[in-house]
Amino acid sequence: MSSVANVIVLVGSLRKESLSRKLVNSVIALNAAPLKYEIAEIGNLPLYNQDLEGENLPATWAAFRRQVKSADAVLFVTPEYNRSVPGCLKNALDVASRPYGSNTWDGKPGAVISVSPGSLGAFGANHHLRQALVFLNVPTMQQPEAYIGGAVNLFDAEGKLIQDSTREFFRKFVQSFAAWIETIRKR
Ligand code: FNR
Repeated sequence: MSSVANVIVLVGSLRKESLSRKLVNSVIALNAAPLKYEIAEIGNLPLYNQDLEGENLPATWAAFRRQVKSADAVLFVTPEYNRSVPGCLKNALDVASRPYGSNTWDGKPGAVISVSPGSLGAFGANHHLRQALVFLNVPTMQQPEAYIGGAVNLFDAEGKLIQDSTREFFRKFVQSFAAWIETIRKR
């Protein structure tokens, strides 16, 4: 068994009361597998503009690229905006995919959780994200899938997961992700 994997977590919502963020905090707190998590702050990344590469490189881009590069794996937890991923998340993907030839996502095992107060569990965002991850060469766990609908009813007042069944689902999800990370690391 190799060393404990560092998982960078990207949350596709910037708001304080984000259901996606509550969910990821609860999932991390389950401690279901020996993984180390670091939630990346993506709200301060300037919009991708190729003119800023080189001398004018924003310090936040450089730091984010380093953070992604040093991670062993990546977990995406995202809401759905208009049947796609929120712009902040797409921007973060773009920033760390460039300059051309320096795709820092390359080869990192990934997993996706999509979250919505609605009943479809942000399926559209989940699969739009997967489309980009194919191109970025992020080998993304296929099963179990995580389309989390009705997300307003998942938490108690402290933001903890209320239902045993939800906790059990995420324990299995995280254990599968840990196994997936090991599989990809061995390749
Ligand atoms: C939404 N929302 C939404 N929900 C959904 O299930 N499918 C969708 O296509 C959209 N579209 C959408 C667009 C925009 C611009 C906003 C602001 C919201 C609702 C969304 O799921 C809800 O606001 C969530 O609470 C957002 O996630 P966080 O911030 O709670 O993590």
